Amino acid sequence: MSDPRSSDGYQPENDLQPSSISKVRVVNRGGDAHADPRDEIPEIGFRNYWYPVTSQRKVKRRKPTRVTLLGEDLCVFRGASGIAVISNWCPHRGASLSQGVCHFVGTVSCPYHGWTFDESGQVKAVLSEGPGDLSTIPGKVSVRSYPTRVIHGIVFSWFGDGEPTDPQHDLPPELFDGSYVQHDATVWHANWRVTLENLSDNHTNYIHRNAVQALMQPFMKVSYRGARTYIAGGGAGLTFYSDGGERKRPYREWFPEVNGYWPKHRHRLLWTRFFALKPLRWLWRLGDGYPPKRSYHPGNHEWNGGPHMPGMQRISGGSSMYTRWCVPINATTTKEFYLWAVRPKNRLARFWERMKYPISQRLLRDRNIGFQDADVLGQLRFDLPEVFSQYDVETMGWRRLAILSARYEGRHDKIPSDLVEQLNARALADMAGRPPVGTQSLDS
Ligand code: FES
Ligand SMILES: [Fe+2]
Repeated sequence: MSDPRSSDGYQPENDLQPSSISKVRVVNRGGDAHADPRDEIPEIGFRNYWYPVTSQRKVKRRKPTRVTLLGEDLCVFRGASGIAVISNWCPHRGASLSQGVCHFVGTVSCPYHGWTFDESGQVKAVLSEGPGDLSTIPGKVSVRSYPTRVIHGIVFSWFGDGEPTDPQHDLPPELFDGSYVQHDATVWHANWRVTLENLSDNHTNYIHRNAVQALMQPFMKVSYRGARTYIAGGGAGLTFYSDGGERKRPYREWFPEVNGYWPKHRHRLLWTRFFALKPLRWLWRLGDGYPPKRSYHPGNHEWNGGPHMPGMQRISGGSSMYTRWCVPINATTTKEFYLWAVRPKNRLARFWERMKYPISQRLLRDRNIGFQDADVLGQLRFDLPEVFSQYDVETMGWRRLAILSARYEGRHDKIPSDLVEQLNARALADMAGRPPVGTQSLDS
């Protein structure tokens, strides 16, 4: 195997070893000496966080909806004061509450004997037994109810045992800053940790080479050479995402190692030329310009881009903020929840955003591109030894953040701040005197 060291002296091994500061090992390099560090990241998700449960639109007036997240089965219905999320299993004899009916405003009745629950999970009446003294159950039995908030039509619930945190602390800021937010979800048959790391690596040019968006405009080549990860709140950022020179690399490159060009031919560029024809140019504008000229949340290193606890991946475009939130359903299935935030200047612009969302995001990104990933991840083994390259640095950063969070009560804000400061200082020191670029360069 060739030496993965790059010419600028960056040694990925530095990141593969447990840091003397954090004692976190992030890569399974094989051998029996160590357990797999990935096992420290909870298999069915971090608890004590808010998660998106479903779209408000999916919750009908008369019929509850069943959702499974973090291995928990939920019954979602319209409570007296808004959407309610309670445990799906009836405490009487275990029927599925989401199979029931909402006969009375703000309640759901179990399909078996008609135990009827309100939004706090309390039994209010037992329809099969009778009103008043005819039943001894009402007021005495309840199921777990989940603290719930509806924001931009998305139902968020708190999956934790203690008091919920302030949603504004844990959820993306564009949900609260007047942005226009649209959302979407797909289901992938892979563990959430696998789907999350998918957006941290450098697969885009290769796996998505036949995606419609790549045919319209080939994806930019990137380099993370010399980049370091830092922790900002619940986010793991890279000190920069490209050294700039990558953009000048030609479309086809000669690989003497295999005696051939990659890509093998230029046929795909015919599509690019086709989409560049004047009548079709408007299609380009369906997507967001890349590279972005500025960041969506200037100066906000926690929320601008990269992985974020408890399982988000964020990409800051100039005028848009994309989030793919990998919400565990169970150990082998993940709901990919997509948020797309923009700041249209007027109602017409907002209308245009709404019109193009089903094509640019739902179809071309979440499905066309997304399912190319899902197809590969569905067969990926997450328990074998791995060989990381320098391009996997963001994955290392995410794992460090996730493992540290897991060690400190499962919350990123419980990681001691002096530890974070030391880790960040090391990342910046490794920049060999160069200032960190990160998202800052986009803000100037
Ligand atoms: S099992 Fe639900 S009412 Fe009997
Ligand atoms: Fe991808």
